[in-house]
Amino acid sequence: MSSELQVIHSEILQCTKCELHKSRTKAVPGEGPHDARIMFVGEGPGQNEDEQGRPFVGAAGKFLTELLESIGLKRSDVFITNIVKCRPPNNRAPKKSEIEACNPYLQSQIRLINPSIVCALGTPAITTLIGDEYSASRFHGKPLTKGKITILPMYHPAAALYDASLKETILHDFKILKQLLEREETLKPSTPKSADSSGAEQTLEKWV
Ligand code: URA
Ligand code: SF4
Repeated sequence: MSSELQVIHSEILQCTKCELHKSRTKAVPGEGPHDARIMFVGEGPGQNEDEQGRPFVGAAGKFLTELLESIGLKRSDVFITNIVKCRPPNNRAPKKSEIEACNPYLQSQIRLINPSIVCALGTPAITTLIGDEYSASRFHGKPLTKGKITILPMYHPAAALYDASLKETILHDFKILKQLLEREETLKPSTPKSADSSGAEQTLEKWV
């Protein structure tokens, strides 16, 4: 299983499927345990990530690590990646065509890692994972389930970093993540995780 993931990651390092390959220094496949229960999906590599070939290593990454620690998790407990694996020039937003070209890698990562929770960081990650009508401002902190996977939309840590009210919001959304994990813990190991739609959850019809 994990070797399949390694194959995908080496494909990403050599990928030329979209324009972003031309300006990248290093592609950033993602990192973390290959059997992680939680995955984080951001927007795309920035300058530090492009230089190092690792996700979330700049200021947003430092904040993400703090957010994880606020609920007793370590960065090394989770798998972290992005919707596009190469840096958009000057940190512009990734284009729809680039997101679409890169999406098969993300879908393969989700299939192989098989996490129980996928946290979508920021509107581009949320729309890629759930659908165009979703956004961070309306859906942050509202988990959606599809089969065995729960998707938790969140604000992007970079957006929340310098805005005190968003910082409170994202800290609260991490508490929801903690509750989801605890609930899953109580369902293990005898009961398979059900797609019950109690509480704030709604069933997600569309899964791309
Ligand atoms: N922002 C992202 O969306 N992804 C990274 O990897 C770093 C910053
Ligand atoms: Fe390939 Fe994705 Fe990089 Fe585009 S962003 S070149 S699709 S790895």
